[in-house]
Amino acid sequence: MALKYFQLLFSVTIFFLVSSNIGLATRHAPDYKNLHSPFEFIKHLEGCHKGNKSKEIQLLKNYLQRFGYLDLDQAHADDDIFDDALEAAVKTYQSNFHINPTGILDVSTVSKMVVSRCGVPDIFKGMNSMRADREKHDSGSAVHVVSHYSFFPNSPRWPPTKTHLTYNILPDTPSNAVGPVRRAFNKWASATHFTFSQVQGNQGADLVIGFFRLDHGDGHEFDGPGGTLAHAFAPTTGRFDYDADEPWVDGMVTGAFDLETVAIHEIGHLLGLGHSSIEGAIMYPSIPDGVTKNLHEDDIRGIRALYNV
Ligand SMILES: *[C@@H]1O[C@H](CO)[C@@H](O)[C@H](O)[C@H]1NC(C)=O
Ligand SMILES: [Zn+2]
Ligand SMILES: [Zn+2]
Repeated sequence: MALKYFQLLFSVTIFFLVSSNIGLATRHAPDYKNLHSPFEFIKHLEGCHKGNKSKEIQLLKNYLQRFGYLDLDQAHADDDIFDDALEAAVKTYQSNFHINPTGILDVSTVSKMVVSRCGVPDIFKGMNSMRADREKHDSGSAVHVVSHYSFFPNSPRWPPTKTHLTYNILPDTPSNAVGPVRRAFNKWASATHFTFSQVQGNQGADLVIGFFRLDHGDGHEFDGPGGTLAHAFAPTTGRFDYDADEPWVDGMVTGAFDLETVAIHEIGHLLGLGHSSIEGAIMYPSIPDGVTKNLHEDDIRGIRALYNV
């Protein structure tokens, strides 16, 4: 009981320190998640900085390229040296995730990077829509509100008259996923101007949800257990794929990922939202195992801004 209380107090304290941007040297042992995930190699890079050289640095470059932070087409970028380009990419990552942008792979940076996440990049062709320092002050609001939602480049969205979208859950979907996906659509429906209905088979659904493994033909392969959990495409493609290799579950279970939480996130992409730098937002890029989340006011403000409603 006393321990629980202390943990709560500790969490609350850390929350306030982090949210008020007070620099604080982390003294507790790092709590690394997903020890057997494809992101595990990042742990071995703790303390690395410009000038370091190792095989894992090349893997880190691939990781940062995959999520939009690094352009490996630049000459000599794809090698094992911690160069200027990598340092710049690490700084951008740090500012997106509200970490002091030192360019050094410190404990806080590694702790964020190893968490399982969505496969959709945070940055598209150098356009960092997630940028934490670009604050959006919503006008018309009585209170001062800072938002961190984002859109895909050129803000693709469903036509204004198309507020009802149909979805098809592919036939080989595990049966325990159907309920969570439906609930996820219901959550978006109750918070926005959209309505959704499920259709079967070849009825030309606007949105299609399925489970896929590794390379599944859309140019964005999955990576086995851990690492990326799912991805979805901007309007009006309408595809949302779960990584079938994850330990999926309906609810809050340590070592497993909540189907509904991930569905709410990916539906956000289907509607046109990019990633948010607010950790409480459903559109935050990463989600640890054993955690459930719901729509956040930042997500809802994002949809209202995108559709002007
Ligand atoms: C990184 O380089 C420093 C010297 O600048 C060295 O002391 C350190 O061991 C290197 N770290 C790794 C992980 O290679
Ligand atoms: Zn995402
Ligand atoms: Zn896919």
